[in-house]
Amino acid sequence: MRISVIGCGYLGAVHAASMASLGHDVVGIDVDANKVARLAAGQAPFYEPGLPELLTEVGATGRLRFSTDMADAAGAQVHFVCVGTPQKQGEFRADLSYVDAAVDALLPHLAPGDVVAGKSTVPVGTAEELAARLEPTGATLVWNPEFLREGFAVQDTLHPDRLVYGLPTDEDGVPTAEGEAARALLDEVYATPLGEGTPLVATDYATAQLVKVAANSFLATKISFINAMAELCEATGADVTRLADAIGYDARIGRRFLNAGLGFGGGCLPKDIRAFMARAGELGVDQALSFLREVDSINMRRRVRMVDLAREVCAGSIVGRRVAVLGAAFKPDSDDVRDSPALSVAAQMQLQGAHVTVTDPQAVENARAKWPDLKFAASALEAAQGADVVLLATEWAEYRELDPAELGAVVARRAVVDGRNVLDPRTWRAAGWTYRALGRP
Ligand code: UGA
Repeated sequence: MRISVIGCGYLGAVHAASMASLGHDVVGIDVDANKVARLAAGQAPFYEPGLPELLTEVGATGRLRFSTDMADAAGAQVHFVCVGTPQKQGEFRADLSYVDAAVDALLPHLAPGDVVAGKSTVPVGTAEELAARLEPTGATLVWNPEFLREGFAVQDTLHPDRLVYGLPTDEDGVPTAEGEAARALLDEVYATPLGEGTPLVATDYATAQLVKVAANSFLATKISFINAMAELCEATGADVTRLADAIGYDARIGRRFLNAGLGFGGGCLPKDIRAFMARAGELGVDQALSFLREVDSINMRRRVRMVDLAREVCAGSIVGRRVAVLGAAFKPDSDDVRDSPALSVAAQMQLQGAHVTVTDPQAVENARAKWPDLKFAASALEAAQGADVVLLATEWAEYRELDPAELGAVVARRAVVDGRNVLDPRTWRAAGWTYRALGRP
């Protein structure tokens, strides 16, 4: 099938390459000429495990092209909208200007029977508005939210745990004839994962849009729940990692996403819960989501607590102290620094008078662009030279496996704050380190 993918960021680039690998003929379109040039040369414009290999593999088939010209979307039967919906400056609401611009630019190139599949995370109600705008073209809008995780994006796109279609429905909630036709086209697009038994939830627009933000809100709540428990653990001398293990054995609770520490960041969870709260307010049901305010506060408190712990191990003041921050990305296996808890801690400490050196296996370039005043190092050992305290802020495998003796040889003082609860306190203490963590004694 001929497919266009509009927006080639973390979502769109992976989606375009994955659709080509499923056998479709794909054009990826982006306004950023630099990004398009890199993708066209078979290079991933950001770090995502498996994406370079996938680009090479599908590049050889000739089924994947990239362009800055929206006219190249003409002739495709399905158009995936994958542009970003960041938080609006100074507000909780989502900025829909990229979605609006993408749809406006696409309109003249649509043909009757085409499907426009929205993947961007949007406030509920957006799909209904976009569908009305598409009407004169005879194309059909489907809301097809995306659940991929950065770091696992290729795997999550090729083997999703579920597919959701929000279809146009009549007043009884039954898909219209054009909704059924659109569904059949999408079934063809996703024939391979559907054939592997991937569950499909076909529903209305509102539900499909809500599924995405509800899922991210649940995940954020789970993380903040365990981080709230970490605060209790700190007050009582309990260990939040053992607590999570113990409650996680209850299958109704589950151990995944119960890792306490510096909390959640990135381009999705923080802005999605805020946009969801803003939308609930507009709909007059803000009370339903007032708990998300608390989820957000618990999360932001962890960053402050991390700085406080570092201050404690520096005998009450970080002014003039050398601090090594291991990690800049919002999570391991990513170079994404959007709302990164690690960078937030590094920047806070720098602003409070510490001399901060940050390192990360992949995200240094993006981190430097955002915080040029911070100092950056190429490795943990280099960052830790002469450090008064080492902060583990992003749990990259190479930091989990650090040798406390080797690192201990280069620091000024053996003090570590484990912001992700991934180091073994006994090993580090046995090697002469002061070990502190969020929610562990
Ligand atoms: C998240 C969702 O997990 C995806 O399902 C969704 O598709 C995506 O947002 C999106 O909306 O596009 P992602 O932002 O890639 O994916 O990252 P996550 O793996 O969810 O991690 C988010 C943050 O939570 C990270 O900062 C991570 O360090 C933190 N986290 C995660 C914890 O603090 N504890 C945990 O137990 C798990």
